[in-house]
Amino acid sequence: MSVLVLGIESSCDETAAAVVRDGREILSSVVHSQASIHATYGGVVPEIAGRSHLAQILPVIDAALEKAGTNLDHVDCIAVTTRPGLIGSLLVGLSAAKALAWPRGIPLVGVHHIEAHVYAATMERAELAYPSLALVVSGGHTALYRARSPLELELLGTTRDDAAGEAFDKVAFLLGLGYPGGPAVSKLAEGGNPRAVRLPSYRSREEAPSFSFSGLKTAVLYHVRGQDARKPAPPPEEIPDRADVAASFEQAVVDALVEECLRTAKREGLPRILVAGGVACNRRLRLELSRRASAEGLEAIFPSPAYCTDNAAMIAGLGFQILSAGRADGLTLDAAPR
Ligand code: KG4
Ligand code: ZN
Repeated sequence: MSVLVLGIESSCDETAAAVVRDGREILSSVVHSQASIHATYGGVVPEIAGRSHLAQILPVIDAALEKAGTNLDHVDCIAVTTRPGLIGSLLVGLSAAKALAWPRGIPLVGVHHIEAHVYAATMERAELAYPSLALVVSGGHTALYRARSPLELELLGTTRDDAAGEAFDKVAFLLGLGYPGGPAVSKLAEGGNPRAVRLPSYRSREEAPSFSFSGLKTAVLYHVRGQDARKPAPPPEEIPDRADVAASFEQAVVDALVEECLRTAKREGLPRILVAGGVACNRRLRLELSRRASAEGLEAIFPSPAYCTDNAAMIAGLGFQILSAGRADGLTLDAAPR
């Protein structure tokens, strides 16, 4: 007998719903991005995000059910992101999930957004891949975990300051590119020389893994503006080597991520690396980590780009695993920002 899970995600600036069969088979995945609404402000505005989720949540859920050729009468479980995220945004998805589940008696499960990102890396494969090292690289997180199973993640190390995606977004702003910055920096970098600008790439001095991207971001600022802190950054069109800066920055981020992944995978004796979160879309990271991992006898596993960034297929998928493990949450289920 197959189990249909409706997934709902609204933790940040994407309103998403998906229908997944047996935790793996994605029947539909609908994502409404608010990126264009927040672009004017150069980042996500929580109040605006909450309002947009409210307007989009039911149409997005309807679209996901329709695309999957099903309706709520056939849904066996509703899985919803409850943490971490923007509290006002999380509450929109959670309230919708409760309102749909309660009158129909559909089991409800709360899902941790980061655990779901990691699950996304393995849900498209024929077999789940555990134990693994998991690298989560998004706008809000850059961390390494030991993943024993879909529901057992142990934090090994994290960033000391900015997340990798946040650094991409800030450098994009400096270079006059839009929000979100990652895809724009990456596109500009294609035409640049990744070794043209000397930039620092952080390495952990301790046994435990760690990352740091704020020094790199500041080095980019000094490079484009010069050393005089009182001088404003020049307008983007006056930066002569924009593509080289983008490529060198991207290379420094990729080098830091790849080095720390390989070192930690070997140290922890883990045979594969699951990569998750928006920055996992990055082409240079996908190519270099895959190549260098395989040279070391390790495997790097990336989700398809659509399942790297925020989506609800990963929420429905992990929701199935939670339900299969015997857990279901009641109407007292609550959201938490952390
Ligand atoms: O996982 P995600 O969609 O949302 C969070 O939970 O943060 O990640 C969004 C982040 C943004 O910072 C965006 O700039 C970055 O992922 N990103 C990329 C690329 N695509 C998205 N960074 C580098 N290269 C990309 N191709
Ligand atoms: Zn995310």
